[in-house]
Amino acid sequence: MENTAKKPYLTGHYTPVADEITATGLAVEGTLPPELTGRLLRNGHNPKPGVTPTHWFKGSGMVHGIRLRDGRAEWYRNRWVHTPALEGAPYMTEKGPDFTASAAGTHVIEHAGRLLALCESNFPFELTPELETVGAFDFDGKLSGMMTAHPKEDPVTGELHFFGSSPLPPYLMYYVCDAKGEIVHSAEVPQASASLKHDFAITRRHVVFIEGNVTFDPTEHSGIPYGWSDRQPARIGVMPKGADGARHIRWYSVEPGNMLHVSNAYEDDEGRIVLEGPTVDQEGFRLSWNWWIGAPGRGAEPNARSYIRRWVIDPAAGSVDERIVDDLAVEFPTLNEAYLGAENRYQYAVSFPDEKGFGGYGIAKYDRTTGARRIHRVGDARLPSEAVFVPAAGSTGEDDGYLLTVVSDLKQDASQLLVLDASGLDTVATVHLPRRVTAGIHGSWVPDADLDATAS
Ligand SMILES: [Fe+2]
Repeated sequence: MENTAKKPYLTGHYTPVADEITATGLAVEGTLPPELTGRLLRNGHNPKPGVTPTHWFKGSGMVHGIRLRDGRAEWYRNRWVHTPALEGAPYMTEKGPDFTASAAGTHVIEHAGRLLALCESNFPFELTPELETVGAFDFDGKLSGMMTAHPKEDPVTGELHFFGSSPLPPYLMYYVCDAKGEIVHSAEVPQASASLKHDFAITRRHVVFIEGNVTFDPTEHSGIPYGWSDRQPARIGVMPKGADGARHIRWYSVEPGNMLHVSNAYEDDEGRIVLEGPTVDQEGFRLSWNWWIGAPGRGAEPNARSYIRRWVIDPAAGSVDERIVDDLAVEFPTLNEAYLGAENRYQYAVSFPDEKGFGGYGIAKYDRTTGARRIHRVGDARLPSEAVFVPAAGSTGEDDGYLLTVVSDLKQDASQLLVLDASGLDTVATVHLPRRVTAGIHGSWVPDADLDATAS
């Protein structure tokens, strides 16, 4: 019988919490900037007690929320996303996939005043501002199947661009949702394949799809049927925005690899498309996947050998220049989202110990202009979450703002919300949370201005 205690995604920083709580009046060290009035929401996999998922990503999603207002930390609460899957409903049925049977544990976003918990093989799940589950949301029937957990909100138009990637045809659907929350465009993207597409990019003029070597593999029995294939071409698809864009998509061959997350993409002054993001090679994918399924031969971290790669795609020449740009193992890239799709100078990410365990965890900041890199170390046995950038009141500079990260602290069996100055990475304030927050995946800052003003 398998020793479930050894599943890496159920131990250490990833040990699930057993219940839902609400705590008010949280202790704060330092000074919380008053413009941080809203909610920091985080999602991650937190199976119910006694449940051992066959894959990290199949664990039921739990959203943790921290409510800040006018310099106070008013509450912390955690809630499972109450989907049919939480009660054991299967994804595959006699009629095909049940898109409501979702782990809903990858991301949580706000768009058009609606909070959505996301998982890429399912419909989104709508939540209330107090994190109670409303139900599955299919955009009034206009979403025909799965939706990526990494939609991109265009900072210029307010539109939400996203895709649905399927292991079976149609392999790739593209959607545009307007700023009011209505899907106004959908199209099948031609020439796509079953390659696993977790994230994508938008620039000011293009949509960029990434197909790596990880693709549909029906022989994979972890419950998520994907695996590395040398036969799967690694490609980047560049598609003009607009209703007619799919007809003009162009695919470019790239070096083998797999990218989980996009840092950013943009057109440079010469009309080339620059794309960056942490990427793994075949060995890195093997070490990571074995961690995700709790198999032997895994890395010490869930993201092994993950280094930022830069592709420069020249449509005029039909060429791609690509290279690894840093030797620090990182994941969960973030930026000032006002720069999403445009050239950004600053980039943030969670840094992991190297393969020998050196370096520890931290929040890394890159200056893409000077090449400088700075790290805020969080200390022993402490793991920070994805650092969400929030602009300061009246900000003018790209890094004039704050980074919000939730630290899992094993020694204290507790967590803190760190508010870092995004410029120098100094700690501005620490909010003490009443329990350890399970190390998770992605999250968002949702300012009050984006939600119903009557929400508490
Ligand atoms: Fe992701």
